Amino acid sequence: MAKPHIMAEHVCPVWVGYLLASPVRKLLQNPNKILKPYVNEAMTVADIGCAMGFFSLPLARMVGPNGKVICVDIQEKMIRKLEKRARKAGLSGWIETIICNDKSFGLEDFKERIDFALAIGVVHEVPDSARFFSEVCEAMKPAGRLLVAEPRGRVSENDFERTVSIAKHNGFEVTDRPQIKRGRSVLLEKKS
Ligand SMILES: C[S@@+](CC[C@H](N)C(=O)[O-])C[C@H]1O[C@@H](n2cnc3c(N)ncnc32)[C@H](O)[C@@H]1O
Repeated sequence: MAKPHIMAEHVCPVWVGYLLASPVRKLLQNPNKILKPYVNEAMTVADIGCAMGFFSLPLARMVGPNGKVICVDIQEKMIRKLEKRARKAGLSGWIETIICNDKSFGLEDFKERIDFALAIGVVHEVPDSARFFSEVCEAMKPAGRLLVAEPRGRVSENDFERTVSIAKHNGFEVTDRPQIKRGRSVLLEKKS
């Protein structure tokens, strides 16, 4: 019998957030290389489960001041640290932060406005992945793309395929399986 898709999972502790933001991580997961195929100047992009912004700051550099990066996280401490890092890097002007809650990802104001979204290492922490995909889908422009990657060490192949199937039932189709080191990944596109 298939596992229910509503699973209570643990949430990444703040101390791990500091490790995830370390520049050393670029040796394994280089944000520019991972994101370059999908992100252009002036795009509106979202980083869901952004933590301290390991991917959000490079995203902000890629979209530039005519674009926007919406950074969503459930933990205020992650967001506050991201804001500090963004200010230091001179990128705050086009980064918008959202501290979401377990009822909503806070994307209601972005209906059909997002070109590209990123969810790295977060879907397995979200209690209801069907709601995650349907809320993100509503915020995406037609044919907008969502890159999902989950850590191999925490998410089995079966569980990842279950996640992909939930995405397909909630507004997305699979367009690619890009390789991200230590991750299981899928590129999704909003169905027309
Ligand atoms: C493993 S970290 C990954 C962080 C970041 N994407 C990265 O790759 O560096 C997962 C993040 O998702 C956040 N998170 C967990 N559950 C969430 C939820 N329901 N809504 C939004 N963010 C959530 C956690 O607070 C944490 O910052």
